[in-house]
Amino acid sequence: MALPESFIQELKLRNDITDVASSYVNLKRRGRNMVGLCPFHGEKTPSFNIYTENGSFYCFGCGIGGDVITFIMKIENLDYIDAVKFLAQRAGMNMPENTYDDSMSALRNKIYEANRQAARYYFKMLHTAQGINAMNYLRGRALSEKTIRHFGLGFAPEQRNSLCNHLKSLGFKDSEIVAANLAFKSKNGYGIYDRFSNRVMFPIIDLRGNVIAFGGRIMTDEKPKYLNTSDTPVFKKSANLFSLNNAKNTGKRTLILCEGYMDVIAVNQAGFENAVATLGTALTNEQAMLMKRYADEVIICYDADEAGQKATQRAIQILRNAGLLIRVLIIPNGKDPDEFIRNKGKNGPVAFANILEQSGNDVEYRFAKLKTIYDLRTSEGKINFLTEAVKILSTLDNSIEQDVYVSKLSKEAEVSKEAVLTQLQRVNFKKNKENAKKEFRQLQTNLNGRDDKINNQHYQKPRSTAAEEALIAYLVNNPDKGEKISKKISSDNFQTDFNRKLYEYFQQRIKNSLDPMLNVSGDFSSEEASKIIQIISSYSKSVSTEQAMNEYINTINEESRKLSKNEIEQASETELLEYIKNLKDKHK
Ligand code: CTP
Ligand code: MN
Repeated sequence: MALPESFIQELKLRNDITDVASSYVNLKRRGRNMVGLCPFHGEKTPSFNIYTENGSFYCFGCGIGGDVITFIMKIENLDYIDAVKFLAQRAGMNMPENTYDDSMSALRNKIYEANRQAARYYFKMLHTAQGINAMNYLRGRALSEKTIRHFGLGFAPEQRNSLCNHLKSLGFKDSEIVAANLAFKSKNGYGIYDRFSNRVMFPIIDLRGNVIAFGGRIMTDEKPKYLNTSDTPVFKKSANLFSLNNAKNTGKRTLILCEGYMDVIAVNQAGFENAVATLGTALTNEQAMLMKRYADEVIICYDADEAGQKATQRAIQILRNAGLLIRVLIIPNGKDPDEFIRNKGKNGPVAFANILEQSGNDVEYRFAKLKTIYDLRTSEGKINFLTEAVKILSTLDNSIEQDVYVSKLSKEAEVSKEAVLTQLQRVNFKKNKENAKKEFRQLQTNLNGRDDKINNQHYQKPRSTAAEEALIAYLVNNPDKGEKISKKISSDNFQTDFNRKLYEYFQQRIKNSLDPMLNVSGDFSSEEASKIIQIISSYSKSVSTEQAMNEYINTINEESRKLSKNEIEQASETELLEYIKNLKDKHK
């Protein structure tokens, strides 16, 4: 079942893509289009385009494109129906009844509700006699009742049927509780049992206030220390951050990135509500882009141990790529933020505020790390230090920033500024050359279609593909020519299946007097939609004359007459002679 197109039409009319996107992206006008830094990948020069005339967007950097519905699906992590609902709500429209398959959406709502009830239950259990150990554990970790309440911390009882029974009494089905990953199916196939048992519970809440997952900590030294909800229809570990729901409200545009739940909570209790943490995985690009929406600067506040420092180096790269400013906080004595703050005698919240204040930027941090490796008192140490340091400088794309550090380095290592500069230029030169080579290779693969994941015949039929795409773009931009085109070419002559499907799809819509692009996000997968927007947007700029149209058609028809290698091998002699005669006739 599909949504009525009249509804989609009104939805799009009332949700102008520029309006919608501008609450996530800083947009500037460029000709008829709007451009900005892509919210889906890190970049420093804008390649995110909005085509106002047809309500679509496309990023030339990461290849994501679509209409306003696709945009919301991607940026809010929603599926098609929920993105439509989101936009309907935004525009104050009611969803049409019984016209679409709502089962996935309904399941997701059930999971949200089950999670919310589970969080309430765990919270309640923490405050009963059963939860006394857990409560003591949290108090032992210096958490106040206010903090416990603020984060909605709870306790999962030992008996493996407690939450299940509670949720079942509220009317939840076994399948829903399992889908929420709050329970497992038992091995013998009968019944279900609680996923979390005898653990302190940390609810994970999304930006809309839904409980989407849990982390559960064991209260002893047993392993695993933490258990987390696996990915579910409402939760994607790699795309969420613990406590971002709190941090986004501080209005600071600085986030403190910690490693763990307890660090975030301790930092929060110390007065810094802008702390967040990944959810038991290494930092992802998606999470960095999410932070970029709420912050300009991130202070990395990982554990002082070796693993934490390794993770810091990695996070620096990811955050830099996302275009964030970075500071790195170094906690003395190998502690994690929570331990540092809890150590009231010496440290505590005030000391934490101090080291936060003193945290240097990522370049300074990396230089400091190098200095621990090389001995600047020896010539060899100096040379190695400078060589490595200059490599770091070459990754900065701000020349003022580079210059500042060139001066600093030359002073520290007691060599002339010119010498450092020359070395930097050498590294930059080499790098630029490598980048140019890489770019050229990428361009080549793009052109020959080797990388085309949607049209997998592109590589074998580059000439057909190019002409087919151009004709499709022409058709969509000139729907009045639909009939004329259909008289000159049959879709059978399309050599690639994907383009044939597109051509037939658009011709059908035009014949039915429908806006060709209106329902692309509903009728195609989001990867296909991206590809379609790429085709339409890259060819609309090129010649769009009837003469060009005829050339595209001729090329496609010509290519369709060529026999494939396979066909040549299998053809009889008479067939081959006939084929050659045809070719000769054509060239007369
Ligand atoms: N983590 C996890 N599973 C584990 C261990 C850790 O998912 N078995 C995740 C948790 O999100 C945890 C974070 O990694 O918060 C950091 O782990 P670690 O430094 O080991 O724990 P702490 O945050 O120091 O936890 P605590 O202070 O409670 O010991
Ligand atoms: Mn800890």
